[in-house]
Amino acid sequence: MGERFETKTVHIGHQPLRHVTAKSTPIYQTSVFAFEGLEEVEQFYAGEGEYLYTRNGNPNQTELADTIAALEQAEAGVSASSGMGAIMAGLLSVLGPGDHVLASHEIYGGTYALLYKELSRFGIELTSINLNEMTTLANHIRPTTKLFFLETITNPLLTVVDMPSWVAEAKQHGLTVMVDNTFATPYLVQPSTLGADLVVHSATKYIGGHSDVTAGVLVGSHELIQRAREIVVNYGTSLSPFEAWLTSRGLKTLAVRMERQCDNASQVASFLAKHAAIKHVYYPSSEATAFFARKKQGAMVSFSLADESKIYDFYRSLEWIKFAPSLAGVETSVSHPVTTSHRAFTEEQRQATGITMGLVRLSVGIEAIEDIVGELNQALEK
Ligand SMILES: Cc1ncc(COP(=O)(O)O)c(C=O)c1O
Repeated sequence: MGERFETKTVHIGHQPLRHVTAKSTPIYQTSVFAFEGLEEVEQFYAGEGEYLYTRNGNPNQTELADTIAALEQAEAGVSASSGMGAIMAGLLSVLGPGDHVLASHEIYGGTYALLYKELSRFGIELTSINLNEMTTLANHIRPTTKLFFLETITNPLLTVVDMPSWVAEAKQHGLTVMVDNTFATPYLVQPSTLGADLVVHSATKYIGGHSDVTAGVLVGSHELIQRAREIVVNYGTSLSPFEAWLTSRGLKTLAVRMERQCDNASQVASFLAKHAAIKHVYYPSSEATAFFARKKQGAMVSFSLADESKIYDFYRSLEWIKFAPSLAGVETSVSHPVTTSHRAFTEEQRQATGITMGLVRLSVGIEAIEDIVGELNQALEK
């Protein structure tokens, strides 16, 4: 150790390998890892060491990805700097120029934009299909079709299709199946157990659960995740250690949050269904969710106003439920798909999907159900 003031300032307190048994995982807030010597570097490249550089891997990223992989009953996982980063890694781990994707027409607007606007530039083709109005994928399969993409509970109309049978058919056609399980979470259903090859999360939502992180996780087989990890590293979309730590911290309460939020949502849906100001409530039925591992229908409720012209008044009248174009925090919030998440849709697509001006997307939180219903009621009455 150098004896001079300047050297001691930099080095003396630094004892990263001192053995301590922290009860919670420390944040490995480091961009790079130190090596004892060149032999250790060689060992890393021979696959024996774990960490080199945080863009390539970091213990906080590993904790998050491994936990989600375990909860989703998948072999391996990788985290990314956002849900979109994880979706891109998943798509590019399978697709190349000339390949064709079949995707449900009810997917998150950002996923649609990624496929339609960005990946199309690399010669990846997309067909959007309405799974509610068809019985087979066969008519849309091309020799180049590689991947089938769907969401467990769709955003924002909360449709739940018969995933087990669609996945089974896609596998018969030799397709890789990728499921966005953001709205359901592994608490409700684990698509890997139904045959999905890749399962992706915007961990920004229920996995994190507190509206304070932007993160994504992708899980699947060792082979696919190995390739996806390379894509995360090469495209530079890895998750920062702090965000990974915060997401893992939020994840610990996923089960209790989901239980409460789903129960609250079920009561909100019943309340809205009876209200005269409501035209339609979008909330998954118990029949549609029969394949879920738990008898719950998610914590999101969408609804359309009977009088679409009152939509501005409705949002203005909310006193404590915040308008926020995201979802899944412990606090109840509302969003407006047409002006936020589904901006990328054309008017034609909006009419075709039912994502219209009068549609409200409600993310139900953990508050007292009486207060949530009371707040909605006063805004609808106004
Ligand atoms: C279903 C779904 N998938 C993916 C995403 C994208 O996630 P992120 O915003 O973390 O990139 C979102 C964002 O709202 C979403 O709702």
